[in-house]
Amino acid sequence: MTEAWRPDGEDERRGAMGPVKVRVPAKVNLHLGVGPLRRDGYHELNTVYHAISIYDELTARRGDTLTLTMEGEGTGELALDDSNLVMRAAHALAGYAGVLPHARLHLRKQIPLAGGLAGGSADAAATLVACDALWGTGLTRDELAGIAADLGSDVPFLIHGGTALGTGRGEAVSPVLARPTSWYWVVAIADGGLSTPAAYRELDRLREAGTAGPPLGATDALLAALRQRDPRVLAATLGNDLQDAALAMRPALAETLKAGEAAGALAGLVSGSGPTCVFLAENGARAERIAAELTAAEVCREVRVAHGPVAGARIV
Ligand code: C5P
Repeated sequence: MTEAWRPDGEDERRGAMGPVKVRVPAKVNLHLGVGPLRRDGYHELNTVYHAISIYDELTARRGDTLTLTMEGEGTGELALDDSNLVMRAAHALAGYAGVLPHARLHLRKQIPLAGGLAGGSADAAATLVACDALWGTGLTRDELAGIAADLGSDVPFLIHGGTALGTGRGEAVSPVLARPTSWYWVVAIADGGLSTPAAYRELDRLREAGTAGPPLGATDALLAALRQRDPRVLAATLGNDLQDAALAMRPALAETLKAGEAAGALAGLVSGSGPTCVFLAENGARAERIAAELTAAEVCREVRVAHGPVAGARIV
């Protein structure tokens, strides 16, 4: 069967014609337990990932070479050459599947760069899903997850989405049993990013100096809270071992956290390696009010309201 006769867009999932558009969420870590530094330069993690409704969108079209264009967050700051995680993901998938990496890729970014929301990893996950469809390579979820893990520790989770436990260096993902509840988040986006490797190095330094807080324990209390519907219970179990490091590198974040809690958030914490701070709200209406107060407090570049959990990278 030739592909040319199909009306445009009819069979995007098989990628016969393209374009293929994929939407991918940002992540926060409800629990980010950082263990010792491993010999491969990564830290052993015990984390609970949570996908929230701030999205990037990647569109893949047929092309004669591999090209990338973008709009939105980070435009002009992010290199669009082969160092970009989108390009690396396309090359990795093509290499694995034995096809030519030919596509015209366009990225619409709403997830801030180096914000602790796994924006780069999200874009890599979206690229794998989009190019797999465009090229008709039809890999299994496990095969995609394997390629994803080589691209970055958070990439497998962003294919997965929802709420999930991450172990190893974060790449080993298993779903968490939770009630079908939506949680409401206020997301405070800072000016400028923070480097993830630098945050891990700072945590190692604080621990060596004996000035880091006690490491988070097991995830049991958080997992139990996710099985209930009470945001107050969940609020009491949120935690991030990288928070001290992010605060040491960006002391002004303490003001952001204070302002969110003063505005009525049940809890606030730094997302991943920061500098984004996220606040748990009792419900959607409360989240909107907290967002308005936080905006007025002028403690960050931008405030958004989001909910979670949401699905991972999906064709739309
Ligand atoms: O895996 P990813 O490329 O996202 O990680 C970026 C950097 O973050 C790593 O090079 C490493 O310095 C740090 N990292 C770590 N331990 C992890 C994950 C990331 O030290 N489990």
